[in-house]
Amino acid sequence: MRVAVIGTGYVGLVSGACFADFGHTVTCVDKDVSKIERLNRGEIPIFEPGLDALVDKNVKQERLFFTTEAKDAIADAEAVFIAVGTPSRRGDGHADLQYVYAAAEEIATLMNGFTVVVNKSTVPVGTGDEVEAIIRKTNPDADFAVASNPEFLREGAAIKDFMIPDRVVVGVEDERAKAVMDELYRPLFLNETPILFTQRRTSELIKYAANAFLAVKITFINEIADLCESVGANVQEVARGIGLDGRIGRKFLNAGPGYGGSCFPKDTLALTKTANDYGSPIRIVDTVIEVNSARKKAMADKIIAAMGADVSGKTIAVLGLAFKPNTDDMRDAPSLDIIPALTEKGASVRAYDPEAMHEAKELMPDISYCGTPWDAIEGADGLVIITEWHQFRALDMERVKNSLSGNVVVDLRNIYDAEDMEKRGFAYTSIGRPKTGKA
Ligand code: UDX
Repeated sequence: MRVAVIGTGYVGLVSGACFADFGHTVTCVDKDVSKIERLNRGEIPIFEPGLDALVDKNVKQERLFFTTEAKDAIADAEAVFIAVGTPSRRGDGHADLQYVYAAAEEIATLMNGFTVVVNKSTVPVGTGDEVEAIIRKTNPDADFAVASNPEFLREGAAIKDFMIPDRVVVGVEDERAKAVMDELYRPLFLNETPILFTQRRTSELIKYAANAFLAVKITFINEIADLCESVGANVQEVARGIGLDGRIGRKFLNAGPGYGGSCFPKDTLALTKTANDYGSPIRIVDTVIEVNSARKKAMADKIIAAMGADVSGKTIAVLGLAFKPNTDDMRDAPSLDIIPALTEKGASVRAYDPEAMHEAKELMPDISYCGTPWDAIEGADGLVIITEWHQFRALDMERVKNSLSGNVVVDLRNIYDAEDMEKRGFAYTSIGRPKTGKA
């Protein structure tokens, strides 16, 4: 099939490269000239494991193209994906749909023959109807159908999530469009991926409901972690104990500093806005949003307490800045709440992250950035682990002990064994685990 993807951000680029790898011919379109030039030189603007090789292979095999010229790409395509950003609108938290609507208008003027316009961007319920109305108004003769096909890609694992998904959701109410979507995803039939065809509005809501549910799950275990600290229980064992119940499931029960990233904060907020607009509030998600943002701030207090209630004049080594491992994404990362709160109290922060430092420098220009974890740790009063990158999971703790001038380690991802760390002489603090319990 011939596919056009509008927007070469994270979702557009991963989806375009993966559809090309399925054997479809894909043209990715973006207005950003320098981005397209970079892509045509083989430079990938984001860090996503495996994406550079996948793009390179499909470009070489002439199935994947990048252009700023929407005209031919859209005219030739049987399916045009809208994969532009839907950031939170400043002021009210609603998803900002201006880029989606602009894409719809442009597609309307350029489409040729029956075309399925597919919303991949995360959009509030009813956006498909709006996109359909815009296209109809702009080009009353157009032969088209609008579908919803939300993405469930995790940053850092996006290619696997696309190629081996738990499910594909397609909201479509037109038989011809359904056949096109079926054909596009046919390569996944081999692994028996469930493909769920629904009404368009249902599909739009599935995306928000999935992300909100995961945010609830994380926030639930985070609050249980706080209770574990108060009563002397171990949250990892509680998570395992409840997660083995198939109705609950083991995934997304890792307590930590609070969720961040490009999706959960924005999508939970947009869901509650929609829910309120329709007079059907989702109070559990309202609470989760509030609890999660308070939690990120509270992590600084936890660190300050671990450092003896005063960090003024102290040096703190921070490992991990991105909102999670395997990404350079700093959007809503807990580090952005934690680090400024520490420096405000007079601490000097020396940070290291394998990929996110260039992003972080823009957002937190006043701290020191180090070339290696050891440069950050050497001589510091305490060590804080905020993101669980693989390379921080088996640090040489003898060397850490000898390098730090103090002995405080705050592990916000529960990577290390509390008993072992205490035996080694660290004043070790983690999340929801008793001080002397077995981790
Ligand atoms: C998420 C969804 O997983 C994906 O399906 C959706 O399409 C986009 O949003 P992503 O934001 O890339 O993906 O990351 P994810 O792995 O889901 O983690 C989100 C946040 O939750 C991170 O800050 C992570 O550290 C946190 N998290 C996740 C926890 O604190 N504990 C967990 O058990 C899992």
